[in-house]
Amino acid sequence: MEKFIVANWKMNGSNTFVNDFLPIIKPSLSSTLNKVILCPPFPYLESVRVALAGTPTLLGAQNCHTASHGAYTGEVSATMLADLGCSAVIIGHSERRTLFAEDDALIKSKVSAVHAAGMRAIVCVGESLYVRESGNAIETVTRQFQASLPPSVTAHNTIIAYEPVWAIGTGITPIPEEIIEMHQALYTTSKIVLPLLYGGSVTDLNIEEIFSLPHVDGVLVGGSSLKVAPFQKIIEAKP
Ligand code: PGA
Repeated sequence: MEKFIVANWKMNGSNTFVNDFLPIIKPSLSSTLNKVILCPPFPYLESVRVALAGTPTLLGAQNCHTASHGAYTGEVSATMLADLGCSAVIIGHSERRTLFAEDDALIKSKVSAVHAAGMRAIVCVGESLYVRESGNAIETVTRQFQASLPPSVTAHNTIIAYEPVWAIGTGITPIPEEIIEMHQALYTTSKIVLPLLYGGSVTDLNIEEIFSLPHVDGVLVGGSSLKVAPFQKIIEAKP
């Protein structure tokens, strides 16, 4: 079965980057057996959408507001993202949770907004190093999972990304048993079978092992999604 590959560019990229990078990886995007969702920053959504034409790659965003429109200076709504051609939005990434104080209740209403706009929510959950070391990772992450999902969740409109905070951008990944244990816990906790992704220091060197783990339906990739050769290898990895 195909695996999801969600590319989170975070606040990186430029017009030059979009114009140089996408034509090089386009053949891999066209031929991959995986389902790729590319999530650039808001200003580059349109140029990435144009550059992806002819590929099965989906366009995604990294955040949205809870309301569909109104007096919220500087914000972007899910409705607008759908209007721009997005079919997915990353919600509740750990950087949003920690740097922008997003809590489970806010994340839940953003997920509702994404569903109301007819898109897929890619909902991130994950424990800090402190929580992992205190032995509370499973309990914390399954609680986050339950508290972040509104009743509108279906198997088609929601993807879960387990991203241990201590693995994001650090080059450190959990041992396979830790990923298996958490994905099994999320699978068991969920009433609906949702795609479960792993995220945190995914590279071309560990992609095959991660794909081979039970209940891992794909990956969320940050840093490696901005580098040509590693990202090509990730896209082309055997599902
Ligand atoms: P990373 O980021 O792949 O650079 O660790 C993952 C993420 O934050 O989504």
